[in-house]
Amino acid sequence: MPSLITVAKATLLALPALASAAGQLGFSLGFAKGLDHKIEANCKTTAEFTSELELIKKVTGSNIIRLYTTSDCNLLPRVLPALKKTNSKVVLGMWSQTDEHFQKNEVPALEKYLPEYKDQVIGVTVGSEALYRKEETAEQLSKKILQVKEIVKKAGADIPVGFADTWNLLILDSANPAIEASDLILANAFSYWQGQTMANATHSFFDDIMQALAHIQKVKGATPFEFWVGETNWPTDGASFENSVPSVENAATYWKEAICPMLKWGVNVFVFEAFDEPHKESAQVEGKKGKDGKVEENVEKYWGVFEEGATKPKFDLTCL
Ligand SMILES: *[C@@H]1O[C@H](CO)[C@@H](O)[C@H](O)[C@H]1NC(C)=O
Repeated sequence: MPSLITVAKATLLALPALASAAGQLGFSLGFAKGLDHKIEANCKTTAEFTSELELIKKVTGSNIIRLYTTSDCNLLPRVLPALKKTNSKVVLGMWSQTDEHFQKNEVPALEKYLPEYKDQVIGVTVGSEALYRKEETAEQLSKKILQVKEIVKKAGADIPVGFADTWNLLILDSANPAIEASDLILANAFSYWQGQTMANATHSFFDDIMQALAHIQKVKGATPFEFWVGETNWPTDGASFENSVPSVENAATYWKEAICPMLKWGVNVFVFEAFDEPHKESAQVEGKKGKDGKVEENVEKYWGVFEEGATKPKFDLTCL
């Protein structure tokens, strides 16, 4: 792995174009209220999306969200009218797996709804951590990215298309075919999953993102591309992971010390996520007991900056 100093030099040389303005802030937004997306009652309604978008905008000033599917929960006709009504924008995600689901469900949904809602969609990503999960190769992913570029062109939309993966996959040459095919790249980085102490969480986050950005810049050369942190945040409850301790206080610190400075540095950031998702299955962590002596749950339900249904955030979300 390149040392921090080497990467810092390489990255900073290329940064002035980015650093002239603060990055944009956006939020991943869950689309379901239950695990089975075939049950209508488990899917958020247009009215629910509308009030969530209004709340996010009121509290954070952001009107940008990130979604992960076009077809599950019949999502697009539910969410796009809410985006239009609240004058919000979205980076749409498409599940790349399976091939059949992608071609039969995700692609037709995009083809059907993109033309009418061009003003709401600011980008499309194909696959979310597909390389990390070894679901497909970068070559396979790149073919789907090029296919979606054609759909976007046909719809008359002038927006970037690409993919989202974890920072540690985006520094590998094996990711290059997907990087080459993309003009939008999202890098996920969680200091929590790096097992970092609070004291080193910002260092780790910046190091991860700088390495991903430096590698992408090297691959893209003079070709312009749009870059976002695709997912980051700190969980507010659940079990510790190595040296990482979930708590509202630590999430507040990570916001002020890692997320705000990344934005200030000029990098766009999607925070994972807007609202807690209590319906998510949350495994007990083997052998881990909390203060109350009970076996602890993992953190899956506790990534929101808002509790589900709350009207106030868990901590201060301003960046001074
Ligand atoms: C802090 O983070 C950096 C970058 O991820 C890492 O190289 C270093 O080992 C970490 N330091 C500690 C004390 O864990």
